[in-house]
Amino acid sequence: MNAGILGMGRYLPEKVLTNFDLEKMMDTSDEWIRTMTGIEERRIASDDCHSSDMAYEAAKAALKDAEINAEDIDLILVATVTPDQPFPTVACMLQEKLGAKKAAAMDVSAACAGFMYAMITASQFIATGAYRHVLIVGVEKLSSVTNWNDRNTAVLFGDGAGAAVIGPVSEGRGILSFELGADGTGGPHLYQNEDHIVMNGREVFKFAVRQMGESSLNVIEKAGLTLDDIDFLVPHQANIRIMEASRERLKLPVEKMAKTVHKYGNTSSASIPIAMVDAYEAGKIKDDDVLVLVGFGGGLTWGAIALRWGK
Ligand code: UT7
Repeated sequence: MNAGILGMGRYLPEKVLTNFDLEKMMDTSDEWIRTMTGIEERRIASDDCHSSDMAYEAAKAALKDAEINAEDIDLILVATVTPDQPFPTVACMLQEKLGAKKAAAMDVSAACAGFMYAMITASQFIATGAYRHVLIVGVEKLSSVTNWNDRNTAVLFGDGAGAAVIGPVSEGRGILSFELGADGTGGPHLYQNEDHIVMNGREVFKFAVRQMGESSLNVIEKAGLTLDDIDFLVPHQANIRIMEASRERLKLPVEKMAKTVHKYGNTSSASIPIAMVDAYEAGKIKDDDVLVLVGFGGGLTWGAIALRWGK
């Protein structure tokens, strides 16, 4: 059974925090943030809006797009590092909100690579025939763990959610190959202490440029494809300079890469599904296009998927 995407959805909080707003909060500038990261603004969830609330909105949209009911879901996987609380999981809260009575539920913790981990895990249940519909969500309320006194990290992150229903698709479509990886020795470069995100930006940057390029090329080769076969790249939306390096490795023109980093910042595990929905709605992805999805994050973790779009 080929596993692929049956439907997708996303949710972004309404409140916009621009670089100019940040200029008033800390010693930074729109010029520095735009040049160094490509970010112009990001969304911030209100105090009473938690990861489970954003996940619910994105999930509802994905179910509608997939034309299935909540009762049809066999398993819910939520990728997040900012759950409402340690337990119950966001996945269990989402199961209750949706009324997905039949679904098993758990969270997946792999930082910004979380959506890649969730998607690959989901696809195994589909490929074996064990389940027919797995709802996966990437959701983060990073504003709740941002240190607003640390300009090195505070300017980078945003809140949001993206969801997909994974299920069986026709021959030749869906996930063609994947790669998941982790390097725990790099853990000290990006982590959360008791309250906040702490990052060695330079080290993460170097790792990201190297790993995003290598993983993308690996999944292309594993799928028996060449660079000429690739139609579209969906990289984790962390920093435009990292994204551009990946795009150049795949020799793709600018318009063949999903880009939302300028308007939503880095939404960690939510960034890939949000960027995919954005590109799809803009008509940049069509049936039978071959996509490369690639992400990296704290852990350190990484993941990439080659996918032929369509049901
Ligand atoms: O999902 C994974 C999450 N993490 C990432 O993707 C992060 C990857 N890393 C990066 O994107 C980059 O490392 C950053 C954009 C975070 C920083 O770029 P950099 O080229 O590594 O700069 P840097 O940290 O070495 O800082 C250069 C200068 C420093 O000043 P001095 O020491 O040269 O005087 C910083 O203090 O820029 C200064 N700086 C800032 N200036 C204005 C750092 N942050 C800011 C800021 N505004 N927000």
